[in-house]
Amino acid sequence: MRILVVGKGGREHALVRALAESPGSPEVFCFPGSDAIFEIAKPVDADGLESLVAWMKANAVDLCVAGEESYLVKGAGLANLCAKEGIPCWGPPKESAQLEASKEFAKEFLIRNGIPTARATATATLDEAVAAIGGEYPTVLKFDGLAAGKGVAVCADEAEAMVFLDEVFTQRRFGAGRVLVEQYLTGPEVSIFAAIIDDRYLIFTPARDYKRIGDGDVGPNTGGMGAVASRGLVDADLLDVIEHEIVVPTVCGLGREGLPYRGFLYFGLMLTPEGPKVIEYNCRFGDPECQAVMPLVHGDLAGFCLAGAMGELREYLLSFDDGWSVCVILASAGYPESSRSGDGIDGLEKSGDFRVYHAGTRRDGQGGWETHGGRVLAVVAGGATRMEAVEKAHAAADLIQFDGAQRRRDIGILNFD
Ligand code: AMP
Ligand code: GLY
Repeated sequence: MRILVVGKGGREHALVRALAESPGSPEVFCFPGSDAIFEIAKPVDADGLESLVAWMKANAVDLCVAGEESYLVKGAGLANLCAKEGIPCWGPPKESAQLEASKEFAKEFLIRNGIPTARATATATLDEAVAAIGGEYPTVLKFDGLAAGKGVAVCADEAEAMVFLDEVFTQRRFGAGRVLVEQYLTGPEVSIFAAIIDDRYLIFTPARDYKRIGDGDVGPNTGGMGAVASRGLVDADLLDVIEHEIVVPTVCGLGREGLPYRGFLYFGLMLTPEGPKVIEYNCRFGDPECQAVMPLVHGDLAGFCLAGAMGELREYLLSFDDGWSVCVILASAGYPESSRSGDGIDGLEKSGDFRVYHAGTRRDGQGGWETHGGRVLAVVAGGATRMEAVEKAHAAADLIQFDGAQRRRDIGILNFD
């Protein structure tokens, strides 16, 4: 089997590895990929979406796996172009990927389908946004488009709200677009991943990510500084509520509204005192949650995704560990405002009962590795208990060093009673 994975980060490194380790040892390609990914997968000679799909056709690729969201909504859409060429794609078409690309589309979908979510008003100008906030703080402001994780501001007061609204409406930091003014919810967050195949689904191991840069959840939001995954994150009763009030109505809504879906769907949930509510959908696996979840998934991921992309749910191909998995991110100096490249990385040759996925690294020309991006590495370890996984993951992260490395020490510890 020949598989092409689209993306280049730590999530794609984890996906490429899990697919390559599937029974039958599929041949894995990646675009655009990274030096570390190319230790496992082969590079692709393409320079855009259309040429990528033409390459897949010419090279008899059996399955395209969408890692990163942007390709799903770029141009004609990755899955749409694959469908035209008859290439099975694990990832939804452009119309359905609006669930991630447009917060307003997602909010209307949630409301139409009676799925619990925060109240919200869509606004087109700074004045409309201020009126919708109505002096009620904290408030949550969401830019209505893809903004690489930077488009959401939880604002404690008017001053913070004005900074964000100025960025969006005056400076146009994210380009043209509206802002959703959303009710502020409280409670622990959990990320639920489901493989959706038309009207059927399989829920993967739940995870929680740590979005802020600093210990104790302080400082600016990042793409994610770590994650913890386990079935134990959500008890059976709560999972039942999530399945029946959120996952099933989502799958039914997609069907009713004529939105085809074959791929991973990420439900970002807040466990509020009134029950779980959706704060976002993403049309892909989470990053860094994927790096935490993948080591818990056993079986034939390649076969599962290929069957899924062709409309069949073969849940018997996968099984999920009962244990815990913890992922610690090492980020470069300056992240998240900027990132420093070119710092040499020590310790990557060390091995043990852990995995290291590369997010932002490159070869240094002398056989070593150096930083090349904001989030640099994801160090992942598992254990029968949460604390065992925590201790192993943090000890493994201690083995790796580079100048200016930033890392949280409370991943897997904070937000548990
Ligand atoms: P999102 O990109 O929509 O997941 O938002 C990023 C982060 O903002 C979430 O992980 C939450 O921590 C926070 N957030 C989003 N929506 C809300 C909300 N309605 N109430 C409180 N916090 C929120
Ligand atoms: N970890 C958050 C995300 O992947 O969007």
